[in-house]
Amino acid sequence: MTILNQKQILLGITGGIAAYKSVELLRLLKKAGANVDVAMTAAALRFVGKTTFEVLSENPVITDLWEDSHGSVAHIDVAARCDAAVIAPATANCIAKLAHGLADDALTTTFLAVTAPILICPAMNTHMYENIRVQRNLDILEQDGVHILDPDTGTLACKTTGPGRLPDPWVIVDRIVHMLTAQDFAGRQVLVSAGPTLEPIDPVRFLSNHSSGKMGYAVARAAEMRGASVTLVTGPVNVTPPVGVNTVFVQTCNDMAEAMLAHMDAADIIIQVAAVADFRPDQQKNLKIKKTSDQDGMTLTLVQNPDILKTMGDCKRPDQFLVGFAAETHDLAASAVKKIEKKHLDMIAANRVGGEDTGFQTDTNKLSVFLKDGSQTDIPLMDKQAVAHSLLDIILAQLERRR
Ligand code: C5P
Repeated sequence: MTILNQKQILLGITGGIAAYKSVELLRLLKKAGANVDVAMTAAALRFVGKTTFEVLSENPVITDLWEDSHGSVAHIDVAARCDAAVIAPATANCIAKLAHGLADDALTTTFLAVTAPILICPAMNTHMYENIRVQRNLDILEQDGVHILDPDTGTLACKTTGPGRLPDPWVIVDRIVHMLTAQDFAGRQVLVSAGPTLEPIDPVRFLSNHSSGKMGYAVARAAEMRGASVTLVTGPVNVTPPVGVNTVFVQTCNDMAEAMLAHMDAADIIIQVAAVADFRPDQQKNLKIKKTSDQDGMTLTLVQNPDILKTMGDCKRPDQFLVGFAAETHDLAASAVKKIEKKHLDMIAANRVGGEDTGFQTDTNKLSVFLKDGSQTDIPLMDKQAVAHSLLDIILAQLERRR
């Protein structure tokens, strides 16, 4: 269940070609459990019909201030009841009007009455978007506390290439969730690692493991949602990088060590979730190793990789909070506690691998979290995003205690 469940969202749609994407945005908001009121400008109605939004939102759509609203003032009601409001797409015209407090149609009048957080998603021709007057109006809105989602860069409907494209609807939903989430990690720098490492044997073969990266990505996403400035160092995985996170892509353990140590100094909290390969081939062949017909087998010599977590534990400052992960098949508590001591950690999160719904590749997990003093907190089986939030709750409680 997401934070959007049972929330009241006001969706404003203005007249840009990207208005068709607002249909999907509405669908995603509804799927997440939100109740959505829609307000559209006359120009938006030229791109997508009102009926589509009425059917999908299951609410009347506000297009006209003068329509019969059964005795109540509909636009004031929806403005008052929303928990968050978003305009997607937002045209230059609508941005200008909002920046200057103009209210000459149903949408701008409604948004002027909103006291909940507002997200504006500009989408327009690149030259329009880069026009100093549009940028100035966006600055005014930002200074007023309105959230702005920068447009994507790409080829636009007008055939121009540059910034101006409305981001994918899931990104807009992600930013609405961000707006609704308590910013209890604001001002904190979080460094997270995720995924497996990949240790090449020759140009086509490698050693790796089954880590999907889902847990590490969930931790990075949760920290960013709660206001942290997050760097994610990731091995090769098939997961979309979280929005708003500085993501650094690496392959080998040595690459990961270099990236983690380069970002370590700036971090307050370091969470090493990655399933780093303990060994790598002693040498990487430049050419593909060929089999010969008289060959019975082949021997691969492995050398030990650096222990990144231990290296960080050995050099961490007292104000930094270092968290390790331990994937175990047995003796969870005993080996987790041993690792806290050996690697000079503040905390370790142990999970049992090999279960059906925990560990590698799964969307759910459960963790046993151990602190230096030996105390244990169990995070029950949940989806990995919820597990990540519980883990951050424990870290935050520890940091509050240090004050
Ligand atoms: O000792 P073990 O590999 O079980 O410890 C797991 C923890 O150590 C994880 O946080 C993992 O990311 C980290 N680790 C590391 N470098 C390695 C091996 C493991 O940072 N070479």
